[in-house]
Amino acid sequence: MSKSLRQIAETLFSDALTPQKLENSLKSYRSILLNATTLGLDDQYNKRDVQLQNGIAIGLSWAGSCLDDPIRTLKFFRGTKRAIEAKLTEKESIHLLYAGTGPFATLILPLLSHFSSDQLQVTLLDVNPTSVENVSQIIDYFGFQNHVQEIRCVDATKMILENPLELDILLSETMQHALQRELQVVITSHLFNQMRADAILIPQSIELDIVCVSNDAVDIQRIDQFLKVDVDFLRLHPKMHADWHIEKTMDFSKFHGTPNDLLAISTKIKVYEGEEIQWNESGLTTPKIIGDLKDFQNANELVFRYAISPEPGCTIHSESTQII
Ligand SMILES: C[S@@+](CC[C@H](N)C(=O)[O-])C[C@H]1O[C@@H](n2cnc3c(N)ncnc32)[C@H](O)[C@@H]1O
Repeated sequence: MSKSLRQIAETLFSDALTPQKLENSLKSYRSILLNATTLGLDDQYNKRDVQLQNGIAIGLSWAGSCLDDPIRTLKFFRGTKRAIEAKLTEKESIHLLYAGTGPFATLILPLLSHFSSDQLQVTLLDVNPTSVENVSQIIDYFGFQNHVQEIRCVDATKMILENPLELDILLSETMQHALQRELQVVITSHLFNQMRADAILIPQSIELDIVCVSNDAVDIQRIDQFLKVDVDFLRLHPKMHADWHIEKTMDFSKFHGTPNDLLAISTKIKVYEGEEIQWNESGLTTPKIIGDLKDFQNANELVFRYAISPEPGCTIHSESTQII
């Protein structure tokens, strides 16, 4: 196993991590990953998204570039490490399913360098065949074969798990801000509902709120919760068909912002106990601006709808007309 990968992992997990050390460690991580393969991230072919029935799988190059979102990457490493440690207090060896690895299996490699193969076993999957090929090369390059039960090219929204009761943790980061376009909700609902009741979901929750944002994007005021995707939500919605949707009706007459405020949907991610990605800390949590608040204040009621479709996401309706 690469000594530098282990050093990067220990720096990222250290309490003494500074923003500068984080930046340097992620730069080094990126460069050892690129050295480990022959992948062309600038290749136009690798930038093409894959359209699936209920959303898109972003192109391999973009999936690889997720690493460069520092707070996202750090919080996922640390949260997943905590979840593994929590499970290891219950049993000696645990099995983690990582759905949507991208070309580097970015979120798991530092953990494979930290935990032994007796402690941590993983199953890795992605729908993009080039990503899967590349992940196989990377696992061989770092010598992690003993940690890996299977590397599979499959659409996670259709996969029937062969060993669901053996799985302890589901890890998936297949999302964009406001849960738009990608398949996080469908993937986690489909896979997690096959797993044991005491399995851990990562991220533990994703909260979308209807918010009012000052037009310099500094202040944020929560108006109402729109959607919270967590274990309880997924257990309530085990089958997400192409026409599945959920709605929240909001009475604007009770809310008074200031003239220049913007109406937006914010995203907050709790990766695992104590590791949260707050508003604007990452590309995944930038607010999705809907428009000037004043343009919506005459509507008595607005209906916010989150729907699964080839392009999942939020729409807003007034008197049964879609306005956004
Ligand atoms: C946002 S990228 C994240 C990559 C990496 N896990 C990370 O966090 O850095 C999402 C990955 O999930 C994969 N993916 C998306 N939908 C999928 C599906 N239905 N089944 C399997 N993989 C999927 C994409 O191909 C892509 O590699």
